[in-house]
Amino acid sequence: MIGLADSYHRRINYMRISVTDRCDLDCIYCSGRSAPHLSHDDILRYEEILRVVQAAAHLGVQKVRLTGGEPLARLHLSRLVEMLVRVEGIDEVSMTTNGTLLAHHAAELKAAGLKRVNVSLDTLKADRFQQITRGDKLRDVLNGIEVAREVGLNPVKLNMVALRDVNDDEILDFARKTVADGWHVRFIECMPFVSSTAEDNGVVATSEIISTIEQSLGKLIPCFPSSGNGPARYYQLPEATGTLGFIGAVTECFCTECNRFRLTADGGLRPCLLDDDEIDLKGPLRRGATIEELEQLILQAATLKQEQHHLAEEVVPAKRQMRQIGG
Ligand code: 5AD
Repeated sequence: MIGLADSYHRRINYMRISVTDRCDLDCIYCSGRSAPHLSHDDILRYEEILRVVQAAAHLGVQKVRLTGGEPLARLHLSRLVEMLVRVEGIDEVSMTTNGTLLAHHAAELKAAGLKRVNVSLDTLKADRFQQITRGDKLRDVLNGIEVAREVGLNPVKLNMVALRDVNDDEILDFARKTVADGWHVRFIECMPFVSSTAEDNGVVATSEIISTIEQSLGKLIPCFPSSGNGPARYYQLPEATGTLGFIGAVTECFCTECNRFRLTADGGLRPCLLDDDEIDLKGPLRRGATIEELEQLILQAATLKQEQHHLAEEVVPAKRQMRQIGG
């Protein structure tokens, strides 16, 4: 095995797979109500996703993450997990979820071979959860997090998108949870997408979040958790068993370390989250493409991977919403 690389010699060993564009929440920074949903026929079947993963694994992809929309909105997701963990070369299947259905599915996902979950959680207050997600499900999410930890989908990481004047007053509450409850919290800077209504307020920068935490809770200690293979920088507070991660998606360009592709629910292979270039895999899959032909398309996508995103020049993805790519 030699391994897949792009034109800038970045190794690609990770694929995020959106299994649906549907979500039972409608977060202000994410979904964009206007975009229509895909029809059942437009979405890759599990067997088709399996073929893509087989081809990708053959080229050196080792980790996959299931995303959405909300991945648990897709029926029988654990069946897909079972199929993917058996692919030769794949050594980790994980998932990012909004958590609302996690309590029901955590045990069966664990049994199917899922390694761990990241859960989106932007607030610990019920009324604010309603304001941000337009759904009344905070209790379900908190319950889902606990059940996921109990069944061993560890480490459960919590993704908090800090939004100015919306939830930025909860940064310390989330940070304290790493001490009190051993939570692993990651603060993600809000990225601009075409129809997001949240970015007008301005990004809460990683540097600002770090100084807010350090001013009140003490100096952060850099660390390397065993399961971090992405763009986050990790720290711990003194006495904490949990960790604090920071994803400076806007103010800190980490493209030089990018190791991933994204597969959209309708089979678009996307070299970069923040660039509209895609290679269609659904058409070829449905015309009976062989694994070798899929590999060629994946290699072609690698050549399209840009050196870095262009948020600084205000170039934002225009063709898809976050809900359609899966973060
Ligand atoms: N900017 C930053 N993060 C976002 N997410 C969704 N939309 C955005 C955005 N516009 C986060 C979700 C999820 C993760 C995969 O991406 O909260 O946890």
